[in-house]
Amino acid sequence: MYNNVHVLDHPLIQHKISLIRDENTGSKEFRELVEEIAMLMAYEVTRDLPLEEIEVKTPIAVAKTKVISGKKLGIVPILRAGLGMVDGMMRLIPAAKVGHIGLYRDPETLKPVEYYCKLPTDISERDLIVVDPMLATGGSACAAIHFLKERGAQSIKLVNLIAAPEGIEAVHKEYPDVPIFVACIDERLNEHGYIVPGLGDAGDRLFGTK
Ligand code: PRP
Ligand code: URA
Repeated sequence: MYNNVHVLDHPLIQHKISLIRDENTGSKEFRELVEEIAMLMAYEVTRDLPLEEIEVKTPIAVAKTKVISGKKLGIVPILRAGLGMVDGMMRLIPAAKVGHIGLYRDPETLKPVEYYCKLPTDISERDLIVVDPMLATGGSACAAIHFLKERGAQSIKLVNLIAAPEGIEAVHKEYPDVPIFVACIDERLNEHGYIVPGLGDAGDRLFGTK
């Protein structure tokens, strides 16, 4: 449907997405589910990692077998809500370095405002995975990608749980080279910039604020 957009429709991911959409799901369960979904998504997002052949001596014989060929990865959560996806991703790629970009959406203008940025020094050598549960207008994701590219990033993937078509189009228009991995593409944004039906405010639901 969209070029360079991957909808991860694995039944376990879809089932857990239904649970986090439910307004009756409390913060503890919401956090656990977001972590689990992120872990499942990491499996698909890393599908193209290069392999190299090595030899391993089993108790029986020498096996020619494969390992990931020393690719450097980086996970970049967009604060706050992106933090909820980091541990799940790290369970599958524990050697990844983590960079943080702090952005919030101004509630009036819906434009992203940067308040924090701390990245690994060698981001130009890393495959970066930007994580944020929600892709709404796309303003935050575009700003994060802009900061990363400005600081030398060469390889970026974007991973969101739920995306609005408007957000996908915005990122795709500005950064057609950035593949987007999502669990669901919802209908639209409402007049406050919330995804419909979405799941509400991901940061507030993760951290029990509001
Ligand atoms: C949410 C969400 C994204 C952003 C998406 O963060 O986690 O970062 O909104 O909206 P956009 O695509 O229109 O930019 P928010 O600004 O609410 O901050 P928070 O994570 O601190 O709650
Ligand atoms: N941010 C959220 O947390 N939820 C939305 O629906 C849109 C932006």
